[in-house]
Formats: sequence, structure tokens, C-alpha cells
Amino acid sequence: MTQAPRPDARTFPAEARTPRAARIPTPGSPAGDGPRQPDPRTPADGPPVHHWPVDHLGALAFDPLLHRLLREEPIARITLRFGEGEAWLATSYEHVRDLSSDPRFSRALTVGRPVTSMTPHTVAPVGGIGRTDPPDHTRLRRLVAQAFSRKRAAELRADAEETARRLVATMVAQGPPADLAEAVTGPMPERLLAGLFGVPAADFGRLQTWREVILSSNHSQEKGDAVKAEIAAYFRGLADLRSRQPGDDLFSELTTLQSAGALSRPELVSLSVMVVLNTLDQIRNQAATMVYALLTHPEQLALLRAEPTLVPRAVEELLRFIPQRNGVGLPRIATEDVAVGDVLIRAGDAVYVSYLAANRDPRVFTEPDRLDVTRDEAPHLAYGNGPHYCLGASLARMEFEVILSTLLRELPHLRPAVPPERVRWRRGSINRGPETLPVAW
Ligand code: HEM
Repeated sequence: MTQAPRPDARTFPAEARTPRAARIPTPGSPAGDGPRQPDPRTPADGPPVHHWPVDHLGALAFDPLLHRLLREEPIARITLRFGEGEAWLATSYEHVRDLSSDPRFSRALTVGRPVTSMTPHTVAPVGGIGRTDPPDHTRLRRLVAQAFSRKRAAELRADAEETARRLVATMVAQGPPADLAEAVTGPMPERLLAGLFGVPAADFGRLQTWREVILSSNHSQEKGDAVKAEIAAYFRGLADLRSRQPGDDLFSELTTLQSAGALSRPELVSLSVMVVLNTLDQIRNQAATMVYALLTHPEQLALLRAEPTLVPRAVEELLRFIPQRNGVGLPRIATEDVAVGDVLIRAGDAVYVSYLAANRDPRVFTEPDRLDVTRDEAPHLAYGNGPHYCLGASLARMEFEVILSTLLRELPHLRPAVPPERVRWRRGSINRGPETLPVAW
């Protein structure tokens, strides 16, 4: 592994900014050109550094720092609670889209770098798909592309519909009130993983416990490392089992590919950790948050009830509108000097992009802070962009469409069972979502 250069903690004096001709314009500035108004917070030697503690936000609240930077400093300097040094943070749609697809920014170079970060440990495993660059990244994505394709998601839809119908029927049979997260949005991804990935149903208790630790920022590095070691050992054990007794599932297929040398054992393990934890966490949280958002925007829910064919479009709008996570995801490291807007990102600098902020960019979305299930504008960036675009996007979309359609159809009078302000939201977690979602019908 190439040793990455140390982070350059300096900020850049105005003179070091790129010559105009080479600039990618700053969104919102008049053609990104012309003199900038003096910023009272800007020290003489470069842009200000914003400390971003990423405070707890409940329900659908949007991070106030992201809201401000998006409008005032679409590429800014930040520090986060853990790690070392500073990083750039891009918030505008244009910068986020450009930076996330620019091959001059590397994920592999984050390995071994204590970049300023949200969590005491790096969530994505070393050697994992999120922390590799081409050609390793391309090879790993190709191995699993089919399993996560739109076509595969379409094939799995009938199963998902049947599962959703049964889960809702069981919930109804037990009578109101019920916790929708416990009854429907939590079990849905477990069934999906059991069928597609071949995770034994009996192991979900352990996996859910590990998920809660790994995807939180509320624990020590030692605890995080211990749980990461346990989950890696679990998947190594499962790989041993599946190489002796292969099943008709993706994990068995990957184990066979690993034996044939198409991927290494650590790559198999880290890919599995990413797939399993993301599926369990994101589908549960986002589906429950989508239902919460609709229940608290009754006029939007009424539109969907009147016109259920709007569900796919509503899912996209909910993905755009909902702040799915706290803070930001994995950084990238610049492999050469790159001019962005009116700043120069130096080779070796760490860069974060905020897909959440990009999804609220007023230069791209009309009234971006309004939920509008009929919206038909630019594609949202909730699933990321570029080569690291979310692997599970088609599966997640399919599950969200199935969950919402089933609830609309089966429970036309679905309503919150407690006032919205009494819904408890997860604290100290990376992905946001309600702890429980009490509903009645
Ligand atoms: C609402 C649900 C989800 C959202 C909003 C979401 C969002 C994202 C985002 C923003 C990224 C990172 C993009 C980047 O690094 O630039 C990502 C990557 C990834 N997601 Fe998802 N995700 C969701 C569900 C899932 C599911 C269900 C899976 C299960 C397969 C999954 C698996 C992954 C993997 C493996 C990556 C890393 C891909 C790579 O680095 O090449 N995600 N996702």
C-alpha cells in the first residue's frame, strides 16, 4: 500500500487560489467569478475552519451547519469530533456530484490515515469495497453487480410483497397500537438477507447487536474494534461452512469465487459486513422514517392514497428529502492538486461530500426544504454518486416501494399512535431513524 502523504493542515492564502481560467465555478457566485464579498469570519490566511460536532438531531430536522454552508460556503474547511487534522466539505449539488465522480480522489488512501471523522473507528472495513480504488474496486463491484442489479430486485419483488403482506397481517391480527419498526420495517430486510444472501435466520439477533455498535458514534474505539473482530470472525466461520455446504445464495456464490481466487478472504468478509449491516440498518430506518414523514405531512399522504401509482416517485422524493444520516460518510484523499470553486484542494488533502446537503440545494431543487411527492426535478444523490454509488440502491428502492404500497393498500387509515413529538429517535448513531414508530389504523 502506498503511504499517503500527511494531511496538509494549512489553509490556503487567497493568493494560492487557482487562476480563474482553471476554476470550477462556485455555485451561487455570479458565474463563480468576480471579487468575493469580504467574509468577516475569514482570517487573513485562508478560509475559516468550522468545528462540526454533529449534534443529535431528531425527526426530520436538517443539520443547521449543512444548511448554512450550502448557501454561504459550498466548499468549506471542517474538523469533526475524532481523528486528526482538517478536511474539506463540499455541500453544493454541483461540487458533490463532481468530486464524487472524479478519479483524482482516492478511497484507498484513507487506509491508515487518521482523517478527522465522526466516529472513533472507521466504519467501512479495510480492504472493503468502500475503501478501494480501481482496478480492485471495479473487480469487486463486478463480482456482485448482478446480485444487486435492477433485474434481480425485480425478481425479488414478489417475495418481498408476500413478506410485507404477511407482516402487516400479523400486526393487524395483534391489534393496534403497534410498533411499525418492530413489526414491519425491521423484519423486511432480515427476510431479504436470509433469501438473497443466505444469512441463517437464527443469527439475526447477534447481527443486529453488532449493527447497533458498529453504526454508532457513542462507544469507545476498543469496543468498536472488538465488535468488528467478532463480526469478521462470524463471516469467516460462515465462509468455512458454505465452502463445505454451499447453498443457493449470494454468500455461497462469493465463497466459491473466493476459492477460485476471484477475491480474497478479507475482501469477502468486508463486503459481507457492508452488505449485511447496510441492509439491516438502512431499510429498517429509512422505511420507518418514510412512513413517519408521510404521516406528518398528511396532504402528501392524501395525494399518495388518491394516486398509488405515485409511490415510486414518492420514494425518490422521500430519499431526497429525508436526512438519512448524521454528519458525513467516508472521506476521499486528493491524489493531485484540484481546483474546486475558488479553493485549491491540495494533493493529500482529505475531502468529504455531503449528499444530504446536495439534495437540498436551492440552485437545483425548487423549495428544497418542502416534501413534494409529485416533484420531478434533478436526480437526488441520496445513494451517492460515481464509482462508489450505493450497491444496494435497487434492492432498497424495491423494498421501500413494496412497504409503502402494502401499507397504503392494507391500512387506509394508518395513523400515528402517539403525537409525533413523542416518537423517540436514535441517538449517537450514524444512520438516523425512529427507535420505535407507534402506529394505529
Ligand atoms: C436508503 C437506503 C440506503 C442509502 C440512503 C444508502 C446510501 C449509500 C451511500 C450514500 C453510499 C456511499 C456513496 C459513496 O461512498 O460515495 C452507499 C454505499 C454503499 N451502500 Fe448503500 N445505501 C442504502 C442502502 C443500502 C443497502 C440496502 C445496501 C445493501 C446491499 C447498501 C450497500 C452499500 C454498499 C456495499 C456501499 C459501498 C459501495 C462502494 O463503495 O462501491 N446500501 N450507500
